[in-house]
Amino acid sequence: MTRKLFVTTALPYANGPFHIGHVMEYIQADTWVRLQRMLGHEVHFVCADDAHGAPIMIAAEKAGLTPQAFVAGIAAGRKQYLDGFHIAFDNWHSTDAPENHQLAQDIYRALRKNELIAVREVEQFFDPQKGMFLPDRFIKGECPNCGAQDQYGDNCEVCGAVYAPTDLKNPVSALTGATPVLRSSEHFFFKLSDPRCVEFLESWTQDGRLQPEVANKVREWFKRGEDGKVGLGDWDISRDAPYFGIEIPDAPGKYFYVWLDAPIGYLASLKNLFGRLGLDMDAYLADPTTEQIHFIGKDIVTFHTLFWPATLKFSGRKVPDRIYVHGFLTVNNGEKMSKSRGTGISPLKYLELGMNAEWLRYYIAAKLNARVEDIDFNPDDFIARVNSDLVGKYINIASRAAGFLHRRFGGRLSADVGVEGRVLLDGLRAHSATVCTHLDEREYGKALREVMLLADRVNEYVDRHKPWELAKTEGMDAALHDVCSVCIEAFRVLTIYLKPVLPALAAQVEAFLQVPPLQWADAQRSLGHHVIGEYKHLMQRVDPKQLDALFEPPPAALPPGGEELAPEIGIADFTKVDLRIAKIVKAEAVDGSTKLLRLTLDAGEGRLRNVFSGIAMNVAPEQLTGKLTVMVANLAPRKMKFGISEGMVLAASHADEKANPGVFVLEPFPGAAPGMRVR
Ligand code: 2FM
Ligand code: ZN
Repeated sequence: MTRKLFVTTALPYANGPFHIGHVMEYIQADTWVRLQRMLGHEVHFVCADDAHGAPIMIAAEKAGLTPQAFVAGIAAGRKQYLDGFHIAFDNWHSTDAPENHQLAQDIYRALRKNELIAVREVEQFFDPQKGMFLPDRFIKGECPNCGAQDQYGDNCEVCGAVYAPTDLKNPVSALTGATPVLRSSEHFFFKLSDPRCVEFLESWTQDGRLQPEVANKVREWFKRGEDGKVGLGDWDISRDAPYFGIEIPDAPGKYFYVWLDAPIGYLASLKNLFGRLGLDMDAYLADPTTEQIHFIGKDIVTFHTLFWPATLKFSGRKVPDRIYVHGFLTVNNGEKMSKSRGTGISPLKYLELGMNAEWLRYYIAAKLNARVEDIDFNPDDFIARVNSDLVGKYINIASRAAGFLHRRFGGRLSADVGVEGRVLLDGLRAHSATVCTHLDEREYGKALREVMLLADRVNEYVDRHKPWELAKTEGMDAALHDVCSVCIEAFRVLTIYLKPVLPALAAQVEAFLQVPPLQWADAQRSLGHHVIGEYKHLMQRVDPKQLDALFEPPPAALPPGGEELAPEIGIADFTKVDLRIAKIVKAEAVDGSTKLLRLTLDAGEGRLRNVFSGIAMNVAPEQLTGKLTVMVANLAPRKMKFGISEGMVLAASHADEKANPGVFVLEPFPGAAPGMRVR
């Protein structure tokens, strides 16, 4: 039966670019969605910016923008990440869009009609200078428990105590520094303690739809105290103006708390998508076979297992079928991510360094399981998994066989695969169901381990049959043909199993094999006498240097007038750099570049080196010819757009090259000769 799946990831706050944690969640959900689509199921996969709330309002004000303009700026930056990591949402929307205003107000009215809204006076800190009530995070003071200075209004980072902002000693507003005053105002509450809500949630959270560890955790919130009352309190869903949010109907100056309208944004995004597709969302959600599934992180479980299902249920709507909770992504064994220490990973920098997005998709998938466990990004592990497994085991199969097929057999596969080939391929196909189940259950690590074991079998088959020897042996053409055909068929089956994780690579493979987009069921078919295209290299290995660059701390801000010194090094670090005197034998302009010169250098090695150098702005090639300079001689050759560069010439430039243009090549005193080391 075709499943109808409405799938979301959590809506990110529109207060900054994505971090690696967002990307991990999107990869997890996107992989799952792609599997479902390969199985022929119908999926609507949506997300949106979570636009509202005090922090965004305050950030916008600091930036001198309206909240709308601020949020639009953040939204404009999303695409490069989503495209870059092959995250295929069907829609990206905003909780500030009209659909969400409408839906949130409708839902509220329904809750009110159901007598689940209460109005109560609440006393809160108010910043008299700013004229607004202060969210807990914007109040600071001394911890009432340990006396630590400068603690936030909700908990102490020194002793861990949890308290109300009114418990802080000597509180100040983090916005203005003013001493906040207590002021009372009317707040709207969703009566979660109503017996109808409690009864519904006790059943909804414990009927098997949640992961066991999530259900257990949630159960504690229902524990009854000695008075027999459930520990579930009513939920404050209103905030006073000024607030960036959705107005509460019939309550001037009151807005929905951001967490009321945020998940409604799931529906708003779907509604917006359905509008474009000309489909009826209400009918779709009324269909009992539609499954509503939210992928979220472990920090927002309460909102998704209590508030959100209750909001939906008591406004007469479909409730979520599954909440798939994942842990956090830590870097280097849980070392706390810190930008200045450079231990975090910037997803954009990853892409800008030219690192392959599917390395990260593969690595993250290899680490993920269905539990709420944190996973760790470890650079050495990353290199090993990508280079040894993904490239070494899987990609390798195609590269070992494709060349022979193309050169010797015009790319036509042999349909006669022999007994051993048949056994191998049948074995691979027999794993389709288990790999599929692992992926469907979000046990991606298990799925990939299984696929790599299958790849091992194929490589053992290649090692036994040695196509490179068959190719040299007379009369072994047919055997060579069969072995290579088995490899390609095996590679195709493994590609199907990996396609949810590696969609772009799979598309390249489809082009190479000259087959339509691979579906899951295609694993059971065989290509027969099909003709494949020419093999082009499918995936590079990771260069460990790329990870060094990824983790490099960002450059320190420049002091006025000069450039910050690089961190101190020892002499051993310096001697790693082999600097040599080189003679510029030839200097030429580079066609298509205003910056580069092509230099031919003689460093006394009995050969000449080709080096591209970004010095064209300041010198004419003829000024350089015949001169001596200093070159980094042991720099790994770099492939550039115009050719390979086999070294680097030293030159001076101002820290702010835009304001102070100029690049000045170094020249030694007379007496220096090509090949001399500079130390
Ligand atoms: O924690 C967060 O980043 C929230 N913006 C998630 C909202 S998820 C959904 F409810 F919108
Ligand atoms: Zn404390």
